[in-house]
Amino acid sequence: MTSTTAAGAADDVVYLDYAATSAIRPPEVIDAIAAYLRDVGATPGRAGHRRALDAGRIAFRCRRALAELFAIPGDPGRIAFQLNATHALNVALFGLLHPGDRVVRTAYDHNSVRRPVAALAARGVRETVLAGSVDGTLDLGEVERAVVGNAVLGRAKVLVVPHASNVLGTVLPLAEIAERAHAAGCLLVVDAAQSAGHVAIDVVRMGVDVLAFTGHKGLLGPQGTGGLWVREGVDVGPVLFGGTGSESWDAAMPSAMPDRLEAGTQNAPGIAGLLAGLEWIRERSVGSIHAAELALKARLRAKVAAIEGVRVVSPAAPEGVGIVTVDAGMDSSTVARRLDAEHGVLTRAGLHCAPEAHDCLGTAERGALRFSIGWATSEADVDRAATALAAVVGSMSAEARKAAGSAGTA
Ligand SMILES: Cc1ncc(COP(=O)(O)O)c(C=O)c1O
Repeated sequence: MTSTTAAGAADDVVYLDYAATSAIRPPEVIDAIAAYLRDVGATPGRAGHRRALDAGRIAFRCRRALAELFAIPGDPGRIAFQLNATHALNVALFGLLHPGDRVVRTAYDHNSVRRPVAALAARGVRETVLAGSVDGTLDLGEVERAVVGNAVLGRAKVLVVPHASNVLGTVLPLAEIAERAHAAGCLLVVDAAQSAGHVAIDVVRMGVDVLAFTGHKGLLGPQGTGGLWVREGVDVGPVLFGGTGSESWDAAMPSAMPDRLEAGTQNAPGIAGLLAGLEWIRERSVGSIHAAELALKARLRAKVAAIEGVRVVSPAAPEGVGIVTVDAGMDSSTVARRLDAEHGVLTRAGLHCAPEAHDCLGTAERGALRFSIGWATSEADVDRAATALAAVVGSMSAEARKAAGSAGTA
């Protein structure tokens, strides 16, 4: 994809870092944000004038589009806007867990789960971490034992899992996991940062109790958008307190969603952009977006697997999301830097904010190189990325051999 730099110059790059953020957005998203700032501008739920009502209608349509995308039954008002998945996960975990409670999480968690759980553990919440496997799967027997606990541990209150791994691109079987959690009376909190907009999500069929998602990755909104859906019957307590434009005499936060979890002025232009992203997805369907991304993933995987010295870390399983992570046997940051500088191929190296996953995969020391596919990726992009990787790995290997040779003759 040829894009344009902030300075307006043509910038011939291949952007393969969609798992970090969707980079340049569809024109409809950009237009919706500009139109909001130009024609609406007001904050939803803060006044009765026409502009505030227009703003409220956009926020409502966005909640309704999210409810449709995730097959959320009932009131779309159970979706609270948040700044990103990290914000949503912090609200979910701090709003559900109290000293003495136990939470079960996985070794594939992003730091947006690992760090809040560590902070909660310092306040007396007990933590159990499920072991990771090289193929990204979870042992369902271990899930069951962990949530049930024992006479000393007791049952877990919350099981939190990533729907899709940001390191491997694998997807967990949520329905089977939910069955184990619910049988133990444990709530399932799902981090959908990498799956929302890329794979179909049906919260009821998948047994999700609380869904945290971000708006700036697969949902194609701008940074600063995301949300938290809380199933009817579950109360996530507020962690942020302030104005909501409702029940203003009460010093406590309102009990009704979404106001309970939406203190302060929301990112209304971002919500307008997120709505446009959701409409873009609805027009194409998640099924067809997923199929296209899987075809590109298979193509990229086959090409990089054929490069001498490159080990593909992402499992060969054809499903999952459009992430292909490799270990080139050399420092991943150097490879990423050279891919960018010499070939205009933009990737993400290192630990991807999930260090325990890299511990499982044997890539903790030099990190791994992640290619991630998104809405504007083409076959030409993945072909160019694979050719570039072959060139960089080839020249770095030759340089290493030369350095070893001259060290040997010195
Ligand atoms: C699996 C996973 N969870 C959570 C997050 C955090 O998302 P955000 O940056 O929107 O807070 C990410 C971001 O990369 C992620 O990959």
